Amino acid sequence: MIEVNPNAPLGVFDSGVGGLTVVRALMDVLPGESIIYLGDTARVPYGSKSPETIRKFAVEDTQFLLSKGVKAVVVACNTATAHAMPVLQSMFRLPIIGVLEPGVEATLADPHCQRVGIIGTAGTIKSCAYQHALAMKRPDLQIYAEATPLLVPLIEEDWIDHPATKMIVKEYLKPMLDRGMDTLVLGCTHYPLLKPLLVKILNNKVRLVDSAVVCAEHVKRLLTEQELLRTAKGKPKLELYLTDLSEQFETLAKRFLRADFGRVQRVSL
Ligand code: DGL
Repeated sequence: MIEVNPNAPLGVFDSGVGGLTVVRALMDVLPGESIIYLGDTARVPYGSKSPETIRKFAVEDTQFLLSKGVKAVVVACNTATAHAMPVLQSMFRLPIIGVLEPGVEATLADPHCQRVGIIGTAGTIKSCAYQHALAMKRPDLQIYAEATPLLVPLIEEDWIDHPATKMIVKEYLKPMLDRGMDTLVLGCTHYPLLKPLLVKILNNKVRLVDSAVVCAEHVKRLLTEQELLRTAKGKPKLELYLTDLSEQFETLAKRFLRADFGRVQRVSL
Protein backbone atom coordinates (compact mmCIF):
# COMPACT_ATOMS: atom_id res chain seq x y z
CA MET A 1 0.00 0.00 0.00
CA ILE A 2 1.17 3.55 -0.66
CA GLU A 3 1.21 6.36 1.87
CA VAL A 4 -2.16 8.14 1.65
CA ASN A 5 -3.30 11.48 3.00
CA PRO A 6 -6.32 11.09 5.35
CA ASN A 7 -7.57 14.52 4.27
CA ALA A 8 -7.77 13.52 0.62
CA PRO A 9 -11.28 12.77 -0.71
CA LEU A 10 -12.81 9.35 -1.10
CA GLY A 11 -13.23 8.28 -4.72
CA VAL A 12 -16.41 6.50 -5.78
CA PHE A 13 -17.29 5.24 -9.25
CA ASP A 14 -20.22 3.57 -10.95
CA SER A 15 -21.38 2.88 -14.48
CA GLY A 16 -23.85 5.76 -14.18
CA VAL A 17 -25.70 7.67 -11.50
CA GLY A 18 -27.06 4.62 -9.61
CA GLY A 19 -23.89 4.56 -7.49
CA LEU A 20 -25.14 7.73 -5.83
CA THR A 21 -27.11 5.38 -3.54
CA VAL A 22 -23.69 4.39 -2.17
CA VAL A 23 -22.66 8.06 -1.94
CA ARG A 24 -25.90 8.75 -0.03
CA ALA A 25 -25.06 5.96 2.41
CA LEU A 26 -21.44 7.20 2.72
CA MET A 27 -22.66 10.73 3.46
CA ASP A 28 -24.93 9.32 6.17
CA VAL A 29 -22.27 7.28 7.98
CA LEU A 30 -19.21 9.43 7.18
CA PRO A 31 -20.56 12.99 7.11
CA GLY A 32 -17.05 14.46 7.54
CA GLU A 33 -15.59 12.99 4.34
CA SER A 34 -15.13 14.72 0.99
CA ILE A 35 -16.19 12.60 -1.98
CA ILE A 36 -15.32 12.61 -5.66
CA TYR A 37 -17.85 10.65 -7.71
CA LEU A 38 -17.40 9.43 -11.26
CA GLY A 39 -20.41 8.13 -13.19
CA ASP A 40 -19.53 6.60 -16.55
CA THR A 41 -22.81 7.75 -18.10
CA ALA A 42 -21.39 7.71 -21.64
CA ARG A 43 -20.92 3.93 -21.44
CA VAL A 44 -23.74 2.87 -19.09
CA PRO A 45 -25.04 0.15 -18.70
CA TYR A 46 -22.22 -2.16 -17.62
CA GLY A 47 -24.69 -4.91 -16.67
CA SER A 48 -25.07 -6.25 -20.22
CA LYS A 49 -21.42 -5.89 -21.29
CA SER A 50 -18.72 -8.58 -21.50
CA PRO A 51 -16.38 -9.21 -18.53
CA GLU A 52 -13.33 -7.91 -20.50
CA THR A 53 -15.07 -4.64 -21.35
CA ILE A 54 -16.26 -4.14 -17.78
CA ARG A 55 -12.73 -4.72 -16.47
CA LYS A 56 -11.28 -2.23 -18.96
CA PHE A 57 -13.87 0.41 -17.99
CA ALA A 58 -13.31 -0.19 -14.27
CA VAL A 59 -9.54 0.31 -14.67
CA GLU A 60 -10.12 3.59 -16.55
CA ASP A 61 -12.62 4.78 -13.92
CA THR A 62 -10.11 4.04 -11.15
CA GLN A 63 -7.29 5.79 -13.02
CA PHE A 64 -9.46 8.90 -13.31
CA LEU A 65 -10.14 8.93 -9.56
CA LEU A 66 -6.44 8.42 -8.82
CA SER A 67 -5.63 11.42 -11.01
CA LYS A 68 -7.83 13.42 -8.61
CA GLY A 69 -5.71 12.33 -5.63
CA VAL A 70 -8.25 10.18 -3.77
CA LYS A 71 -7.23 8.22 -0.66
CA ALA A 72 -9.34 5.14 -1.40
CA VAL A 73 -11.64 3.95 -4.17
CA VAL A 74 -15.15 2.64 -3.61
CA VAL A 75 -16.47 0.55 -6.49
CA ALA A 76 -20.15 1.39 -6.09
CA CYS A 77 -21.19 -0.64 -9.14
CA ASN A 78 -22.09 -4.26 -8.41
CA THR A 79 -21.31 -5.36 -11.96
CA ALA A 80 -17.84 -3.75 -11.88
CA THR A 81 -17.20 -5.19 -8.41
CA ALA A 82 -18.22 -8.67 -9.56
CA HIS A 83 -15.87 -8.64 -12.56
CA ALA A 84 -13.03 -6.28 -11.80
CA MET A 85 -12.06 -6.41 -8.12
CA PRO A 86 -9.09 -8.79 -8.53
CA VAL A 87 -7.63 -6.77 -11.41
CA LEU A 88 -8.13 -3.44 -9.60
CA GLN A 89 -6.62 -4.74 -6.39
CA SER A 90 -3.59 -6.12 -8.18
CA MET A 91 -3.02 -2.98 -10.31
CA PHE A 92 -3.49 -0.21 -7.75
CA ARG A 93 -1.80 0.20 -4.39
CA LEU A 94 -4.42 2.05 -2.37
CA PRO A 95 -7.48 0.70 -0.56
CA ILE A 96 -10.14 -0.43 -3.04
CA ILE A 97 -13.49 -1.44 -1.62
CA GLY A 98 -16.29 -3.05 -3.61
CA VAL A 99 -19.92 -3.60 -2.73
CA LEU A 100 -19.78 -7.40 -2.85
CA GLU A 101 -17.66 -8.34 0.16
CA PRO A 102 -19.62 -6.15 2.61
CA GLY A 103 -22.87 -7.56 1.17
CA VAL A 104 -21.67 -11.11 1.71
CA GLU A 105 -20.51 -10.32 5.25
CA ALA A 106 -23.85 -8.71 6.12
CA THR A 107 -25.73 -11.69 4.67
CA LEU A 108 -23.77 -14.14 6.78
CA ALA A 109 -23.93 -12.00 9.90
CA ASP A 110 -27.25 -13.70 10.67
CA PRO A 111 -26.29 -17.30 11.51
CA HIS A 112 -29.91 -18.40 10.96
CA CYS A 113 -29.88 -17.57 7.26
CA GLN A 114 -30.26 -20.74 5.22
CA ARG A 115 -31.74 -19.77 1.87
CA VAL A 116 -30.32 -16.70 0.18
CA GLY A 117 -31.64 -15.06 -2.96
CA ILE A 118 -29.48 -12.67 -4.98
CA ILE A 119 -30.78 -10.24 -7.61
CA GLY A 120 -28.62 -8.13 -9.90
CA THR A 121 -27.76 -7.37 -13.51
CA ALA A 122 -27.11 -10.18 -15.97
CA GLY A 123 -23.38 -9.45 -15.67
CA THR A 124 -23.34 -9.67 -11.88
CA ILE A 125 -25.36 -12.88 -11.76
CA LYS A 126 -23.40 -14.53 -14.60
CA SER A 127 -20.09 -13.75 -12.92
CA CYS A 128 -21.21 -15.98 -10.00
CA ALA A 129 -19.11 -13.71 -7.76
CA TYR A 130 -21.76 -13.42 -5.02
CA GLN A 131 -22.63 -17.10 -5.28
CA HIS A 132 -18.96 -18.18 -4.93
CA ALA A 133 -18.17 -15.77 -2.12
CA LEU A 134 -21.19 -16.96 -0.11
CA ALA A 135 -20.60 -20.65 -0.81
CA MET A 136 -16.91 -20.40 0.17
CA LYS A 137 -17.86 -19.16 3.62
CA ARG A 138 -21.03 -21.19 4.13
CA PRO A 139 -20.98 -24.33 1.93
CA ASP A 140 -24.27 -25.48 3.45
CA LEU A 141 -26.17 -22.39 2.23
CA GLN A 142 -28.93 -22.71 -0.40
CA ILE A 143 -28.27 -19.95 -2.94
CA TYR A 144 -30.68 -18.78 -5.61
CA ALA A 145 -29.54 -16.11 -8.05
CA GLU A 146 -31.75 -14.34 -10.56
CA ALA A 147 -30.77 -11.74 -13.17
CA THR A 148 -33.39 -8.98 -13.03
CA PRO A 149 -32.49 -6.74 -15.98
CA LEU A 150 -35.89 -5.05 -16.25
CA LEU A 151 -35.57 -3.40 -12.86
CA VAL A 152 -32.90 -0.77 -13.71
CA PRO A 153 -34.96 0.79 -16.56
CA LEU A 154 -38.15 0.73 -14.44
CA ILE A 155 -36.40 2.49 -11.56
CA GLU A 156 -34.87 5.03 -13.93
CA GLU A 157 -38.35 5.71 -15.35
CA ASP A 158 -39.47 6.39 -11.77
CA TRP A 159 -42.04 3.59 -12.08
CA ILE A 160 -41.37 2.49 -8.54
CA ASP A 161 -45.02 2.55 -7.47
CA HIS A 162 -46.30 1.40 -10.84
CA PRO A 163 -48.39 -1.82 -10.92
CA ALA A 164 -46.19 -3.12 -13.77
CA THR A 165 -43.11 -2.91 -11.54
CA LYS A 166 -44.91 -4.73 -8.75
CA MET A 167 -45.94 -7.49 -11.15
CA ILE A 168 -42.43 -7.85 -12.59
CA VAL A 169 -40.76 -7.90 -9.16
CA LYS A 170 -43.22 -10.59 -8.00
CA GLU A 171 -42.53 -12.64 -11.11
CA TYR A 172 -38.75 -12.41 -10.60
CA LEU A 173 -38.97 -13.32 -6.91
CA LYS A 174 -41.49 -16.14 -7.22
CA PRO A 175 -39.03 -19.00 -7.84
CA MET A 176 -36.94 -17.90 -4.85
CA LEU A 177 -39.96 -17.45 -2.61
CA ASP A 178 -41.28 -20.88 -3.63
CA ARG A 179 -38.00 -22.32 -2.34
CA GLY A 180 -38.36 -20.59 1.02
CA MET A 181 -35.83 -17.75 0.61
CA ASP A 182 -35.15 -16.10 3.99
CA THR A 183 -32.67 -13.40 2.87
CA LEU A 184 -32.53 -11.30 -0.30
CA VAL A 185 -29.33 -9.55 -1.40
CA LEU A 186 -29.97 -6.37 -3.41
CA GLY A 187 -26.98 -6.76 -5.71
CA CYS A 188 -27.37 -3.61 -7.81
CA THR A 189 -26.87 0.11 -7.24
CA HIS A 190 -30.48 0.91 -8.14
CA TYR A 191 -32.33 -1.59 -5.98
CA PRO A 192 -32.25 0.34 -2.67
CA LEU A 193 -34.93 2.53 -4.28
CA LEU A 194 -37.19 -0.51 -4.47
CA LYS A 195 -36.94 -1.28 -0.77
CA PRO A 196 -40.41 0.06 0.20
CA LEU A 197 -42.00 -2.06 -2.55
CA LEU A 198 -39.95 -5.14 -1.61
CA VAL A 199 -40.89 -4.81 2.05
CA LYS A 200 -44.56 -4.76 1.01
CA ILE A 201 -44.26 -7.71 -1.36
CA LEU A 202 -42.20 -9.80 1.03
CA ASN A 203 -44.41 -8.96 3.99
CA ASN A 204 -41.37 -8.37 6.18
CA LYS A 205 -40.72 -12.13 6.10
CA VAL A 206 -37.46 -11.94 4.13
CA ARG A 207 -34.41 -10.04 5.37
CA LEU A 208 -33.13 -7.51 2.84
CA VAL A 209 -29.40 -6.88 2.49
CA ASP A 210 -28.80 -3.43 1.01
CA SER A 211 -25.29 -3.50 -0.46
CA ALA A 212 -25.08 0.33 -0.49
CA VAL A 213 -25.60 0.69 3.27
CA VAL A 214 -23.34 -2.20 4.27
CA CYS A 215 -20.62 -1.01 1.89
CA ALA A 216 -20.65 2.44 3.53
CA GLU A 217 -20.36 0.87 6.98
CA HIS A 218 -17.45 -1.25 5.74
CA VAL A 219 -15.69 1.85 4.37
CA LYS A 220 -16.12 3.56 7.74
CA ARG A 221 -14.56 0.59 9.55
CA LEU A 222 -11.65 0.45 7.14
CA LEU A 223 -10.89 4.19 7.31
CA THR A 224 -11.08 4.07 11.10
CA GLU A 225 -8.78 1.03 11.38
CA GLN A 226 -6.24 2.48 8.93
CA GLU A 227 -6.40 5.92 10.58
CA LEU A 228 -7.58 7.45 7.32
CA LEU A 229 -10.56 9.47 8.58
CA ARG A 230 -10.51 13.12 7.51
CA THR A 231 -9.36 15.45 10.26
CA ALA A 232 -9.25 18.73 8.31
CA LYS A 233 -11.50 21.56 9.45
CA GLY A 234 -14.03 23.01 7.02
CA LYS A 235 -17.01 21.61 5.20
CA PRO A 236 -16.40 18.42 3.24
CA LYS A 237 -16.97 18.67 -0.53
CA LEU A 238 -18.87 16.52 -2.98
CA GLU A 239 -17.67 16.70 -6.58
CA LEU A 240 -19.58 14.93 -9.34
CA TYR A 241 -18.04 13.97 -12.67
CA LEU A 242 -19.97 12.28 -15.48
CA THR A 243 -18.66 11.06 -18.83
CA ASP A 244 -21.86 12.28 -20.51
CA LEU A 245 -24.15 15.06 -19.39
CA SER A 246 -27.89 15.23 -19.96
CA GLU A 247 -30.91 16.62 -18.19
CA GLN A 248 -32.05 13.06 -17.53
CA PHE A 249 -28.85 12.25 -15.61
CA GLU A 250 -29.23 15.34 -13.45
CA THR A 251 -32.85 14.44 -12.60
CA LEU A 252 -31.88 10.85 -11.83
CA ALA A 253 -28.89 11.96 -9.77
CA LYS A 254 -31.16 14.04 -7.52
CA ARG A 255 -33.42 11.04 -6.94
CA PHE A 256 -30.57 8.69 -6.14
CA LEU A 257 -28.68 11.13 -3.94
CA ARG A 258 -31.72 12.66 -2.22
CA ALA A 259 -29.77 15.89 -1.84
CA ASP A 260 -28.72 18.89 -3.85
CA PHE A 261 -25.34 18.95 -5.47
CA GLY A 262 -23.37 21.66 -7.20
CA ARG A 263 -22.19 21.77 -10.75
CA VAL A 264 -21.67 18.44 -12.46
CA GLN A 265 -18.54 18.34 -14.59
CA ARG A 266 -18.11 16.40 -17.79
CA VAL A 267 -14.95 14.37 -18.28
CA SER A 268 -13.48 12.15 -20.98
CA LEU A 269 -11.64 9.07 -19.82
N1 DGL B 1 -24.48 0.02 -11.66
C1 DGL B 1 -24.92 -1.25 -12.18
C2 DGL B 1 -24.82 -2.31 -11.05
O1 DGL B 1 -24.85 -2.01 -9.88
C3 DGL B 1 -26.34 -1.19 -12.72
C4 DGL B 1 -26.46 -0.38 -14.00
C5 DGL B 1 -25.63 -0.97 -15.12
O2 DGL B 1 -25.98 -2.02 -15.68
O3 DGL B 1 -24.62 -0.38 -15.45
O4 DGL B 1 -24.70 -3.47 -11.36
